[in-house]
Amino acid sequence: MQIIKEKAALTEVISKLKSKNSSIGFVPTMGALHEGHLSLVRQAATICDVVVVSIFINPTQFDNTTDLDNYPRTLDSDTQKLAELNLNLIIFAPTATELYNNKIESEHFQFDGLEYEMEGKYRNGHFDGVGTVVKKLFEIVEPDKAFFGEKDYQQLQIIKKLVAQHKIPVEVIGCPIYRENNGLARSSRNERLSPKTRLEASFIHETLLKVKDKFGTESANQISQWVEKEFKAHPYFKLEYFEIADSETLKPATNTIASRTFRAFIAVYSENVRLIDNIALNY
Ligand code: PAF
Repeated sequence: MQIIKEKAALTEVISKLKSKNSSIGFVPTMGALHEGHLSLVRQAATICDVVVVSIFINPTQFDNTTDLDNYPRTLDSDTQKLAELNLNLIIFAPTATELYNNKIESEHFQFDGLEYEMEGKYRNGHFDGVGTVVKKLFEIVEPDKAFFGEKDYQQLQIIKKLVAQHKIPVEVIGCPIYRENNGLARSSRNERLSPKTRLEASFIHETLLKVKDKFGTESANQISQWVEKEFKAHPYFKLEYFEIADSETLKPATNTIASRTFRAFIAVYSENVRLIDNIALNY
């Protein structure tokens, strides 16, 4: 396993691999690796000759400096976890100056309205930051396939749009949400929850499963009201948003057309930690 910190060094390695027709898989991360990330890396390694894992805490996608400051920085243990996988991996861990060429700012994107829904309403500039860094990383890594978790489903749709709009020659593969034993979606932020709250957080996925049961017999509006009531009564979690939306356009479901597929999305706060999750409803 190689660890590369400079763009030029990575470009050289990638062009050697390409000259040997090796297929390149890519798993972009912000580090603090957990089983969810490792499952993406394993999946990538089953279908690609070499997997590049980037570890880069992207400053431009944080709308909140406290969140950026509190983000765990664990390069040594991340490296150790990846080494233990015993796969053909390259870690790309640039500094912000190296990746952004001294100009640490976002490009402005329009993703056909995907960027204004849900996370876009609550995290100002977030998707411009994600789009900027992922486009830069795609240009350097030149992957054949890139793997993203469905926990950040809106991000996944936006990356697919970015790739289509900019004709980037990469296949974007969405991978199922990796959950803890109690159903909580794996996230680097879970580490910041107290053990008690982390256990209680099974409530989020349990609520989404009940939403799935209700979908089809109750309207999106009725279900949303029910979810709001459930969270109001819960002592641990504060609901930021709940939404049932079209799985492709991410527009809120007003009337559920049988030919479309829908997902439910949720964001909640507990102990100053923001958790998101989602579930497919009719597919
Ligand atoms: O999902 C993430 O961890 C980040 O948004 C990503 C895709 C690595 C870009 O910084």
